[in-house]
Amino acid sequence: MTLLRWRASMSLGVPTIDADHKHLIEILNRLHFLKLAGDDSGSLGNVLGELVEYTRNHFTREEALMRRCGFPGFAHHRQQHQAICDALADFHLAFYTDPAGFDMAAFYDFVADWLLVHVMREDMKLRPHLVKAGLFANAG
Ligand SMILES: [Fe+2]
Repeated sequence: MTLLRWRASMSLGVPTIDADHKHLIEILNRLHFLKLAGDDSGSLGNVLGELVEYTRNHFTREEALMRRCGFPGFAHHRQQHQAICDALADFHLAFYTDPAGFDMAAFYDFVADWLLVHVMREDMKLRPHLVKAGLFANAG
């Protein structure tokens, strides 16, 4: 696995959404370091729950923005969000069913790959629509 770090190329140009993506990376890395530090399953479970919850809230914010700028790919994008929410819920359940057997490295890779690919390929499709709607702030 490679540690995921925020990079400028991930910026959508909307500060609230960029902050959300940064925070998701921060929670994911916190989970990784907790596991490395041999933390107990209670703390890991809490942080995993935090990631699931924050992802849902982030999607709500992102989807509201899509509606505001009349993004034509909304339905498809929303399906992708739903699929990742379902996958995260499955991981969460698997963790609570068997915390010791939970493969944190595989989970990390799954979420890191998803975040990177989804943000760079899918969220970026929003940019021209944000610009048109005057919702684009800047890169950073
Ligand atoms: Fe998205």
